[in-house]
Amino acid sequence: MDEVLQASAPGRVNLIGDHTDYTGGLVLPMVIDRMTTISGSWTDDRHWQLTSADEPGVASLALPITDPSTVQPEWARYVAGVLDGFERHGVRVPGFAGFVETSIPIGSGLSSSAALEVAVARILLQCGDPSARTLGDVRVLARLCQEAEHRATGVPCGIMDQLSIITGRPGTATLIDCHDLSIEEIVIPPDFVVTERFIHGRTLAGTEYAERVAQCRAAEEEIGPLRLARLADVESLSTELLKRRARHVISENERVRTFVDATRAGDIAAAGRVMTESHWSLARDYETSTARMDEAVRDVLAEPGVVGARMTGGGFGGCIVVLSRR
Ligand code: GLA
Repeated sequence: MDEVLQASAPGRVNLIGDHTDYTGGLVLPMVIDRMTTISGSWTDDRHWQLTSADEPGVASLALPITDPSTVQPEWARYVAGVLDGFERHGVRVPGFAGFVETSIPIGSGLSSSAALEVAVARILLQCGDPSARTLGDVRVLARLCQEAEHRATGVPCGIMDQLSIITGRPGTATLIDCHDLSIEEIVIPPDFVVTERFIHGRTLAGTEYAERVAQCRAAEEEIGPLRLARLADVESLSTELLKRRARHVISENERVRTFVDATRAGDIAAAGRVMTESHWSLARDYETSTARMDEAVRDVLAEPGVVGARMTGGGFGGCIVVLSRR
């Protein structure tokens, strides 16, 4: 019988630092205890065949892939994007027949798509082609998966999800400087309890996301890189809209630093406060929250032990992340 291969990748929740990665800012994601697993065997043809326990249809992909964005069913686009990415790196991808299952709720903002990309990549790393070796570097692999997502969906996402999923360890948050991709592990003290709560499915996420990326570029054309800008620089931007967008990004980078300092000092109240501030910055200046998510944040803050809450990830639905005392 053919050897059975298996590879997994977890979902992630972002503690703080949203909509900062695509301007080279700071993010603090953490992997969660839910994952996507692929199992199967190599085949002799150049064909990928994957069935899913959680999504309809079969991913039936002939290699080489021409355009991942037109593949059906839609979930197979992420698979196609990664296969194509490996071939662009000179790897001759062998055929594969297998099965994918996930415990990450799909469309919840916990990065089920990035987890699928990374799980496919981890299967491919086992193919034995010498060109795959350079892809053992976590940053190169994360870029490949990020680009796969760009080609699969057209959404110009940053690198946070893929890099945090590839490098994250349970119980530890990953501080990523998205400019130079340096990583620092931040231990979450045992009395800090992080939970995520699903609020509602996402809407318009792709278009709105691309618009935010474009607005940040426009602001950067006027005042230079947002990761280096100061709040005072915002005043010289030409429109109110760009001022609000830039204000969020610049202040969010600062909040990540504050959160990390508070965590290191074991100051849960300060960490919680800055998380909640991040939510209102995303809601008011960046406009990536929704009325229901705002309401959920207000409600959860009234619960005993809760010190902070915010929307997490791209927004327009999905989950909130909550910090409470044990
Ligand atoms: C999505 C993207 C990430 C990041 C977040 C917002 O999850 O995939 O790159 O931009 O939104 O922080």
